[in-house]
Amino acid sequence: MRHLLNSSDLSKDEILSLFEKAKRYLEVVKGRTRVNDANGKILATLFYEPSTRTRFSFETAMLRLGGHVISNAQMNDTSSAKKGETLYDTGKVVSQLADIIAMRHPESKSVGQLAAGSEVPVVNGGNGAGDHPTQGLLDLFTMLHDIGRLENLTITMVGDLKYSRVLHSQCVLLSQFKDIRFRLISPAALRMPVDIVNDLKAKGFQVEEREDLEAALPGTDVISLTRVQQERFPSPEDFLKYRGMYVFTPELLQKTNDDSILIHPLPRLDELPESVDADTRARYFEQVQNGVAVRMAILSTLLEL
Ligand code: NCD
Repeated sequence: MRHLLNSSDLSKDEILSLFEKAKRYLEVVKGRTRVNDANGKILATLFYEPSTRTRFSFETAMLRLGGHVISNAQMNDTSSAKKGETLYDTGKVVSQLADIIAMRHPESKSVGQLAAGSEVPVVNGGNGAGDHPTQGLLDLFTMLHDIGRLENLTITMVGDLKYSRVLHSQCVLLSQFKDIRFRLISPAALRMPVDIVNDLKAKGFQVEEREDLEAALPGTDVISLTRVQQERFPSPEDFLKYRGMYVFTPELLQKTNDDSILIHPLPRLDELPESVDADTRARYFEQVQNGVAVRMAILSTLLEL
């Protein structure tokens, strides 16, 4: 039995075979139909941190696979959490009930603790500022689907690189592929964690870190934006210092290539105005559908269907 806890758990071949499966499932998602691959299996979604799209995406994926869902969006308020049950025990208990578990938690060690107790596969739906492998995978799937390759790409990541688990996952997953040029745009205080940058450099990737966004845009294939991660900042004042630091206006978008793509995991704040939505480079709503297809592929693979 295998879990999906970290983006670094996956080899290049595993990523590509998930994407092959996801391509097939995307037809099911777009057709708003259902297959019977999961044949009544049960997914438990245990979310200890707020979520709308990720939880719904996992649940939609399981339903479109022909499975069932048991769900708790407020695990912090459950009797097990309030009575002080360990995550190990919660994993043990829930795995007697469900066939697979998706979880989200504000602490980075959490998923490993729950998985240690679980007798069924566990999928990480976001662990604090750490990792968000399923979102990273759907982002790469979107790049492959829309650009046609996962090699020889220039990606510009913008904003809160320190706390955005999505961008961490993208770096780790992309590091399995060749000739990726990383342009990392952030204020000095919100730079990409040094261990991730060092790992990319050690693997021979070109990594540029700077504050100026505009200069980084020409020649970019993928612009990857996220919101400033308010909930991870030590104080509201700290967050307010950075809110609105980069706003991706339609004028800025004109500085990128016509065939580039703009991705964002959503939700958005002021970094991504609605006036950009009509631009053909904007892919964030399409990403939502891709996310269901990729999660269908992940669930069916871990369930060995
Ligand atoms: C992301 C997350 O939860 O990390 N959202 C998501 O999964 N759709 C990004 C974010 O919250 O900014």
